[in-house]
Amino acid sequence: MKRDERRIKTGAVLVAAALMCISGVEAHAADPVKGRELYTTHCAMCHGKSGHGVMPGTPNFTRGDVLLRPDNVLLNGIKVGKGAMPAYYGILTDREILDIIAFLRSLR
Ligand code: HEC
Repeated sequence: MKRDERRIKTGAVLVAAALMCISGVEAHAADPVKGRELYTTHCAMCHGKSGHGVMPGTPNFTRGDVLLRPDNVLLNGIKVGKGAMPAYYGILTDREILDIIAFLRSLR
């Protein structure tokens, strides 16, 4: 009887810990509003305010083929840069780039 009670208590603590982890992740979820500000400052001159692309050769973010890639692939691509696009490693943090990606996903 006693042992069962202890087991239930342990279970409840584990559930509480798991819930705290989940809400912790939520608190740090990518923020598309912040992402929009960062995008306007750092990316819009080439990619356009609406994501259609201003500079020739830029992908169209509203049609989203590029955005079918998972966040971590996009994150690395943006950190490394490509062709005429500068590398953002050391300029933007991973968190800031993930905010921008969340904003880009809202353009589709
Ligand atoms: C100086 C102009 C310029 C700026 C500034 C710029 N980009 Fe780009 N970006 C490009 C060009 C050009 C390409 C296409 C590169 C290619 O395919 O050779 C590109 C490609 C991309 C791609 C697709 C990469 C891939 O692997 O195909 C993503 C995602 C992207 N840009 C996001 C961003 C974000 C986010 C920012 C701001 C933090 C940004 N870009 C700033 C010009 C720019």
